[in-house]
Amino acid sequence: MVNKTTSPPLWLLAELTYRCPLQCAYCSNPLEFTRYQNELDTDAWFSVLRQARAMGAAQLGFSGGEPLIRQDLEALVSEARQLGFYTNLLTSGVGLTAQRVNALAEAGLDHIQISLQAADPELAQALAGSAKAHANKLAMAKAVKAAGYPMVLNVVLHRHNIDQIGDLIALCDELGADAVELANCQYYGWAFLNRQALMPTREQLVRAEAETNRWRETLAARGRDMSLLFVVPDYFEQAPKACMGGWGSIFMTVAPDGAVLPCHSARELPMAFPNVKETSLQDIWYQSDAFNRFRGTQWMPALCQQCDDRDKDHGGCRCQAYLLTGDMNATDPVCQHSPQHGLLESLIAENSHNTPDQATLIPRNARQSKQLQGQAEIQSGLRQSGLAAPSPRQPLELIYRQ
Ligand code: FES
Repeated sequence: MVNKTTSPPLWLLAELTYRCPLQCAYCSNPLEFTRYQNELDTDAWFSVLRQARAMGAAQLGFSGGEPLIRQDLEALVSEARQLGFYTNLLTSGVGLTAQRVNALAEAGLDHIQISLQAADPELAQALAGSAKAHANKLAMAKAVKAAGYPMVLNVVLHRHNIDQIGDLIALCDELGADAVELANCQYYGWAFLNRQALMPTREQLVRAEAETNRWRETLAARGRDMSLLFVVPDYFEQAPKACMGGWGSIFMTVAPDGAVLPCHSARELPMAFPNVKETSLQDIWYQSDAFNRFRGTQWMPALCQQCDDRDKDHGGCRCQAYLLTGDMNATDPVCQHSPQHGLLESLIAENSHNTPDQATLIPRNARQSKQLQGQAEIQSGLRQSGLAAPSPRQPLELIYRQ
C-alpha cells in the first residue's frame, strides 16, 4: 500500500561494493564495512534498478567503495540505460583503462566523476595509500575526456591538502577539466574517526575560498570555461543543510549487501534498516519505520518545530546530530540556535591550536575495520554488562580510540 503523502524517490545511489584499492582516511563508508561482504549479485542489482525506476527514480549514481571492482558494472550500466536512468559513475579512477572507458560509454554511461587526493604525487600517495593511483587518475581523466565525456573532477579538501588548493586548480586546468568540485570534508564514517587530524583551521578555509575566487577571476579573464564549486564544511556553518533534501524525500541508497538507507551514512545510526533481499523497494520507501522515522516535522524537537526554516532545512542532518550529540533526534548542532552549537565552536577553536600530522590518520582498510569492529563490540559488551557506560554524548571516535 502506498502512503499518498510521500513523494516517490528521484535519486538512487547504488553502492555496489565496499571493496576499494585505496585507503583514504576521509572515506564516508561505515567503519565496520568488512561486516558486509555478502554483496548483491548482478540479478539482484537488476531487480533493484527495475524497482527504483518503476517507482519514478530517474538519477542513478554508481559508487562504492570502488565500483570499478565489480566486473558486472558495464552490464548494470547497460540495464540502467535501457530503463531510462541518467547514470553517473563516481570513481577513484583506479581500475579504469581506456578500453573500460569505451566499454562503459558503449553501455550507455552518461557521466563519470574522478576523484583526486592532492596536487603533488607524494601527498596523493600518502593519502590514498597507493603509489600508482595518482598517475593513473590523471591518465584516466584524459581518457574520459577523449571518450567524449565532460571531465568532472572531485577533490575532498582537508587539513593536509587544502593549502595546495591553487596547485590543485592549476592541475585541473592543465588537464582540461570542465568542472571541479572542491568539497571540504564532511565528518561521517572514517572521516569522523579521523576528524581531529582532518579538520582545517578557519584561517585555512578562508584562504582556500579566497584562492578559489581568485582562480574564478583568472579563468574568466582567459575565457576558460571550467566551473569551480567550493563546498564549505558543515561544522563552520551557522545553519544546517537540508541533508539529502530531507530524510526519505528524494534520495535512497542501496548498500552493497542490499540494505536500503535514506543516506549513505545512516548505518551509523542506532536503528535497523530493511533489505531488498526481504522487502520490495516500494514497501521500504513508503511503509518502513526507517524511512518514515524522520519524515515531516512531527519528530522534530520543539525548537525546530517552531523554526521558520523547518520546511527548508528539514531539521538538518540526522547522522551529524547523532555523531555529535549521541541523540539522532536532537537539533543538528550546526544550527546556531541548537543548545549544542557550542560543541562545534569548541572543536574549531581547539583545532586551531593543533598541528596534526598525516601519521595520525587511520587508513580506511580491512585490517583497521576489523580491529575497530572488535573494539566496538568489546565496548558494547562492557556497556551491556554495566562495566562501562560512556555518556551518550561521547562521540564514537572516542569509543573507537579507547
Ligand atoms: Fe545521514 Fe545527513 S548524512 S541524514
